[in-house]
Amino acid sequence: MKVVAVSGGSKGLGAAIVQSFLDRGYCVASFSRRGTSKTEEWQQQFPDRFLFVEMDLTDNAACKAFVSRVEDTLGPIEVLVNNAGMAHTSLLPLIDDDAIDNLVDLNLKGTFRLTRQVSRSMLSLKRGRIINISSIIGLSGYRGLSVYGATKAGLDGFTRALARELGARNITVNSVAPGYLTTEMTEELNTAQSQQIVKRTPLGRLGDPADITGLILFLCSDQANFITGQVLVVDGGITC
Ligand SMILES: NC(=O)c1ccc[n+]([C@@H]2O[C@H](COP(=O)([O-])OP(=O)(O)OC[C@H]3O[C@@H](n4cnc5c(N)ncnc54)[C@H](OP(=O)(O)O)[C@@H]3O)[C@@H](O)[C@H]2O)c1
Repeated sequence: MKVVAVSGGSKGLGAAIVQSFLDRGYCVASFSRRGTSKTEEWQQQFPDRFLFVEMDLTDNAACKAFVSRVEDTLGPIEVLVNNAGMAHTSLLPLIDDDAIDNLVDLNLKGTFRLTRQVSRSMLSLKRGRIINISSIIGLSGYRGLSVYGATKAGLDGFTRALARELGARNITVNSVAPGYLTTEMTEELNTAQSQQIVKRTPLGRLGDPADITGLILFLCSDQANFITGQVLVVDGGITC
C-alpha cells in the first residue's frame, strides 16, 4: 500500500485530500497544530492506515520526527502533498513584521524543510510524487495578499527547480494552484468580495475542496508518469 503524507490534513482542502486517499485504500499520515473531529474519526476508522500527529510545520525537529515515525510505522513515503499554509490579508504598507515572518516561515521554509526530509527517502526509493498546493494568487495577485502571493509564487519556483533535481530518480514535482475555495481560509472575504469573485468566474461559483482532489489523485497515478515541473490551475476559469 502506498504511503501518502499530507501536511495540514485536519480541515479544509487538506482534510478533503486525506479523505480522497483513504477512500482509495492508501496509507495516510498527516499533521497539523490541532486535531479535529475528522482526524479522530479517521484514527478510529483506519487504525492501521491513518496516522495523525499534532505538530507545527515550522518546527524543524518535529518535522524530522514525523517523517521517521511515518516511515517506521507505515513505510516509506511515496507521495508528499504540501498543503499546510496560511493567508494574511493586509496592504503591504500596513503589514507587521510578525505576519511577514509567519507567512514565509510556514508557507515556504516549513515546506522546504519537510520536502528536503521526505525527498531524501524518495531518492533511495527511486520513485515519488511531490505536490505543492500553491494558489492562483501567486499567478495573478490579489489586493491585500502580496506576501501570501509571493510565498505561493515561490512555491511554484520551488516546484520547477525541484522537478529538475529529482526527475532522474523518477520523482515528479508539480504545483496545484486552486482558485477561491469555500474553507476557513476564505471566511474573511466579505459578501461583496465573494460576489465579485463568483461574477468573474466562468463556472459561476467558488470552488469546493472536492473540486481539487481529482487532479491530485491523477498526479499520483501512472497516467501522470510524464508530468513534472508544472503549475496546474483549478479555478473555475477565473484566471483564463
Ligand atoms: N481556501 C482557498 O481559497 C485556497 C485557495 C488557493 C490555495 N489554497 C491553499 O490551500 C492550502 C489549504 O488551505 P485551506 O483553505 O484548506 O486552509 P485552512 O482551512 O485554513 O486549513 C489549513 C490547514 O493547515 C494547517 N496548518 C496551519 N498552520 C499550520 C502550522 N503552522 N503547522 C501545521 N499545520 C498548519 C491547519 O491546521 P491547524 O490550524 O490546526 O494547524 C489546517 O489543517 C493552503 O496552502 C492554502 O494556501 C487555499
